Amino acid sequence: MQEKLHQLFSDFQKGLKNCLLEAEILDLKSQYLGKKGFISEILKNLKDVSVEQKKMIGPLANNIKKEIEHLTANKMSSIERDAINKKLAEKRIDITQREKFFDKGLNHAGPHPVSLIQREIEDIFLSMGFDILDGPHIEDDFHNFEALNIPADHPARDMQDTFWFPNLKNLLRTHTSTIQVRGMKSKRPPFKFVGPGKVFRSERTDASHESCFHQLEGMMVGENISVANLIYFMKVLLSEIFKSEVEVRLRPGFFPFVEPGFELDIRCMVCKGKGCSVCKQTGWVELLPCGMVHPNVLKAGNIDTNKWNGFAFGLGLDRLVMMKYKIDDIRHLHGGDLRFISQFSAY
Ligand code: FA5
Repeated sequence: MQEKLHQLFSDFQKGLKNCLLEAEILDLKSQYLGKKGFISEILKNLKDVSVEQKKMIGPLANNIKKEIEHLTANKMSSIERDAINKKLAEKRIDITQREKFFDKGLNHAGPHPVSLIQREIEDIFLSMGFDILDGPHIEDDFHNFEALNIPADHPARDMQDTFWFPNLKNLLRTHTSTIQVRGMKSKRPPFKFVGPGKVFRSERTDASHESCFHQLEGMMVGENISVANLIYFMKVLLSEIFKSEVEVRLRPGFFPFVEPGFELDIRCMVCKGKGCSVCKQTGWVELLPCGMVHPNVLKAGNIDTNKWNGFAFGLGLDRLVMMKYKIDDIRHLHGGDLRFISQFSAY
């Protein structure tokens, strides 16, 4: 039996060398390790041999099984690597040869529509005395959750599916609310700022969801700030962007870092409220959640809550672009198709 096992293993190695396709490898593996495979058949016959032989053959068969798994996995990844390298070699683009692109009718694209709208909003808020702040994409638990009144084990952590780093300490920020935490650290009240940037969530994509998208955070802290102040700034923002009346609705929304919290939805401009894949047939698109900053958040930012209070909002920039230009799928914004992007430089 031992000899048989060694023979089988050497046959397997020869067979593997001849495999060129993933399907062939999987087929070969199942011939040896499958339920009715050669190795399983040998193990079935173990019952008929002496105890001494069992002690030798059992571990040998297991080692050979492990080795077959290992060699198969290696060969599979080498085939995958070769396929990727082949693709890269075939699709090589020489970016120094711009004329080639122009020949194909692709003009250089100009600014991305998300960048355009971001600059426009920054200008609007600068003119109202807001500062502009930035924050890192790679964050830690404190800035993304803890300081925003979302302690460990809080169910709200599941509201945003997080990309964690293997060290489980760092993460890709799931929202720009991290900039609130950084802003409170770097400023003394009264202050007001906006903070735009990319955010990341481990989410399935669809017409209105991407796993990497853009938000613009806003925060104002002062004395006697009220919901009326918040609504005023939201109205100015939307009327400046759309240059016309837009239909919005305000409804209660839950975010641990604001109290009270609101969801500000906009009437879907892609379908004019009739229902489409962007608004999930509801006629409304969630655009601008906001609320009065929770005292725990101000305290985590060392702000005296007896004297100061404030509002905050987190605008979804990609969805705003979609509404403004009536784009029916968020994936157009991230597809990198120059024919799509170049349409916006004229705006
Ligand atoms: C937040 O991220 C909160 N940090 C916003 C906030 C800030 C609330 C300050 C209160 C005070 P939410 O997960 O709902 O909330 O995202 C905010 C906006 O980002 C949404 O309204 C939507 O416009 C946009 N958004 C959310 N998920 C996606 C996604 N997967 N793809 C594209 N846009 C998204």
